Amino acid sequence: MNISVVGLGYVGLIQAAGMAKLGHNVLGSDMDKNKVDKINSKEPPIYENGLKEILQETVPSRFSAYQELKKPFMESDATFICVGTPSKRQGEMSLHQLENVMRQLGELLKEKKYHIFVIKSTVVPGTCENIVIPVVEKASGKKFKKDFSVVMNPEFLREGEALEDFFDPDRIVLGSSDKTALKKIKEIYSPFKCPVLETGFKEAEMIKYASNAFLATKISFINEIGNISKTFGIDTNIVAKGIGMDKRISPHFLKSGIGFGGSCFPKDVNAIVYKATEKGYNPKLLRSVLDVNRDQPLKMIELLDRKEGPIKGKKIGLLGLTFKAGTDDIRESPALVTIKELLMEEAELYIYDPKAMEKTKKLFPHLNYLSSAQEVVDECEAVLILTEWPEFRTLDYGKKLVIDGKNLFFDNHRPENYEGICW
Ligand code: UGA
Repeated sequence: MNISVVGLGYVGLIQAAGMAKLGHNVLGSDMDKNKVDKINSKEPPIYENGLKEILQETVPSRFSAYQELKKPFMESDATFICVGTPSKRQGEMSLHQLENVMRQLGELLKEKKYHIFVIKSTVVPGTCENIVIPVVEKASGKKFKKDFSVVMNPEFLREGEALEDFFDPDRIVLGSSDKTALKKIKEIYSPFKCPVLETGFKEAEMIKYASNAFLATKISFINEIGNISKTFGIDTNIVAKGIGMDKRISPHFLKSGIGFGGSCFPKDVNAIVYKATEKGYNPKLLRSVLDVNRDQPLKMIELLDRKEGPIKGKKIGLLGLTFKAGTDDIRESPALVTIKELLMEEAELYIYDPKAMEKTKKLFPHLNYLSSAQEVVDECEAVLILTEWPEFRTLDYGKKLVIDGKNLFFDNHRPENYEGICW
């Protein structure tokens, strides 16, 4: 099948590379010239395990990238829409990019007989029916189901393991009121053994939010249990192990720590809270999930304050900047909150991360970025572990105070002067 993908960020690029690997002919489109050039020279613009190998194999024979929308759209049968839906100030989702792209594709549709649009971007319930379809109909003068179709196909990829998740998904969700289009898109995923759930538009849109909201709730739950356990001197990891043995609970997503970050959980929970409120429902549980998460990085600073006395003027080392290991993504990373708080307390900060120093320098240009984790440990009076990079396990911490927000030493020898956030 000839497929185009609009938006070659974390989601679009994995979708594009994955489909090319499956044997489809993929034409990607992105406004960012740098990204397009990198992809066409087989260089991944983001760090993602296994991506480089797929680009080496599929570019240019089955995958190429363009800075324009027209060629990829005209030469394909279906377009996967993977543009960002970032948060506005109140948590509301911005549909600016999506509407803009759909309008342009609608214009181009005037010159085509039929096309399928697959929405991968995370959008609140009602978006496909109330925005995507009307925008395309207006721009093209054509009719949904007759001249074009729309399918909502939410993504469930974890950064760092995105290709693994792409090729071995737990489920595929396809939402549409158009059975013919559903059948066509189902074919793309036919090599996968997982169940395919066909739903309406709104249900597919909601499944994505409910999945992320549930996982975020599980994390805030274990962090709250962790904060309580800590007051009793209990190691929360043992508690998590004990409750995770119950099949109904499962051991996954029960790691307590400095809270969830990334481009998805904070944004998606905020967006559904905003939308629910707009609809007249007060989502108390989800608001608390966000509250617990907002305060969690501050627990590290409280611990530091308790153990080291006044933080002002102290040399504090921060190990890790990304929101989790295996990615170079610092969006909504608890490490950034920690930096801001420590700067307010006038600490002197020394920093190392194997993947995200350049990105962080753009936000905080005046901190001390050192070239290795060991240098940070050697330079500072106390060290905070903010990302679970494996290399931080084997450093020589000596007698330095180590406060761990990521449970790096659970199955490992802990440093001599060690304290965990919830253990
Ligand atoms: C998440 C979901 O896991 C994906 O299914 C979804 O597709 C994606 O969001 C999205 O909406 O696009 P991701 O943000 O890449 O994926 O990262 P996760 O591995 O889920 O971790 C999110 C955050 O939760 C990280 O900060 C991680 O450290 C934290 N976390 C995770 C915990 O604090 N404890 C846990 O037990 C698990």
